[in-house]
Amino acid sequence: MKAIVLAGGAGSRLYPLTQVSSKQLQAVFDKPMIYYPLTVLLASGVREFCLIATPHDLPRYQSLLGDGSQWGVAIQYREQPRPEGIAQAFLIAADFVGSDDVILMLGDNIFSGGDDFPRAVSSFTAGATIFAYHVKDPERYGVVEFDRTGKAISIEEKPQHPKSSYAVPGVYVYDNSVLDIAKAVKPSIRGELEITDINLEYLRLGKLQVRRLSRGFAWLDAGTSTALHEASSYIEAIERRQGVKIGCPEEAALVRGFLSIAQFETLIERMPACEYSDYLRGVADEWHRLQEDKQ
Ligand code: G1P
Repeated sequence: MKAIVLAGGAGSRLYPLTQVSSKQLQAVFDKPMIYYPLTVLLASGVREFCLIATPHDLPRYQSLLGDGSQWGVAIQYREQPRPEGIAQAFLIAADFVGSDDVILMLGDNIFSGGDDFPRAVSSFTAGATIFAYHVKDPERYGVVEFDRTGKAISIEEKPQHPKSSYAVPGVYVYDNSVLDIAKAVKPSIRGELEITDINLEYLRLGKLQVRRLSRGFAWLDAGTSTALHEASSYIEAIERRQGVKIGCPEEAALVRGFLSIAQFETLIERMPACEYSDYLRGVADEWHRLQEDKQ
């Protein structure tokens, strides 16, 4: 399974923050926003990534994330010159996807809690798997309607009168036929290639699975300054309470076995003295303790 991470868009609702840095590079508490979706993907076992951003922002992502080898993964980059819709990602990154299945993840979606995504990825066989999350303001999202048996029967993009309170988060798991489906999508009234149209095609074919995310699961939005601040506060509260970090790709890479403990420790040595490297050192100490217990 490969993954495309879409970090395009102008981020105009975060102006003037986005005058100095792309939206998905803004800080969400103690790390750049893009770390959160990347960590979810690493924790789901993905090792091949393609990051898409505007030509202006792409070099910043390249200097932050490099070729991914520091985390035991491979990251490629592609440009999206204009924000012409989420589904365009499949046209831009078709050569990267090749003949594989692919997850598309939006770089501004922050998740915390549960193992819903790793489970969905490991049990994926064919068709499409998307998710549904109960929200107060479904009209801002793709909205999925269920029948009485819990089967998805419709999806609408930002409807004025939502048929349910279930929004579709920006994580989509597709088989390889998504490349052909994307080619046939026509621009919507707002001039974008809509991801909802791809999902509707899978629904029409009877190949769409919609998994409801559990209540304790947090899907945070960071599209406005207020939402960004709230997301930071939420992450801080959980991290302080539990003493574990959310959205820490190095840790996910170690847990998944993408990095050996020696590689992990070398990575920490290259970091400046800071809270983040202190935390990772604690993770390494814990790893050694667990090894001793096993012996
Ligand atoms: C996009 C999708 C929408 C989805 C949302 C999740 O919205 O079009 O269906 O629910 O991402 O973040 P947009 O980012 O264009 O507002």
